Amino acid sequence: MEKKYYEAYEERYKQVHQSQNKPWAGDRPSLAIEKLLEKYGANSNSSILEIGCGEGQNAIYLLQKGYNIEASDVSPEAIRWCKKQAELAGVDENKFFVMDILNNDLDKKYDFIFSVAVLHMLVDDKDRSEFFNFVKKHLEDIGKAFIVVMGDGKMTRKTDTTKAFELADRPFENKTIQVATTSCRMVTWEQYLSEFKNAGLKVLDYYLDRTISGFEVSMVAVAEKE
Ligand SMILES: C[S@@+](CC[C@H](N)C(=O)[O-])C[C@H]1O[C@@H](n2cnc3c(N)ncnc32)[C@H](O)[C@@H]1O
Repeated sequence: MEKKYYEAYEERYKQVHQSQNKPWAGDRPSLAIEKLLEKYGANSNSSILEIGCGEGQNAIYLLQKGYNIEASDVSPEAIRWCKKQAELAGVDENKFFVMDILNNDLDKKYDFIFSVAVLHMLVDDKDRSEFFNFVKKHLEDIGKAFIVVMGDGKMTRKTDTTKAFELADRPFENKTIQVATTSCRMVTWEQYLSEFKNAGLKVLDYYLDRTISGFEVSMVAVAEKE
């Protein structure tokens, strides 16, 4: 079956894991997510889902902290890496699973859903609205979603999705390596907030964050079902 442009990270992960035997995104968790979980009252009984967990640095850290989190990604290589890291960290590797959230549903709802640096990979309007639909469908009535994307709320950008699998030079540690280009769409605050509204999600808070690993500046939004 033809690969979707947003599956290009699979190639990037394979290239980096095979050639460097290191994670592409490093192993530092984004502590901003832990702070949000604390702020909105999550405890060890709360059910939490991470969408697009990549190499698992956030989910593994939260599992180590005792949170009840499941983590998914469309990339089988990412999940293979997560399971290996989970085993090394002594947490449950079965919490990680492969899923394309744009084409699948789960038969459960969560108290918290979060996603770091995933939505800005989705370029097509239809895919972005499917992302929000998935979040809304899987949130408990009083559940909270934390959605973090690359951007400063002003700059816009839209890459050519037909080039997502092409190789490009990218900095990795102190050298340059060739990896799959992948995709990116950056939106303004106005566009971002209207996407939540169109999906029936009420934004409770939004702000710029400069602490998210790998990004100079990120847009964070906290939302619940309307
Ligand atoms: C930029 S990476 C971020 C990974 C991780 N959250 C982090 O902060 O390092 C984006 C991730 O989103 C995943 N992704 C893209 N589209 C997806 C989809 N439709 N369903 C699930 N995961 C998806 C990619 O495979 C990739 O791992």
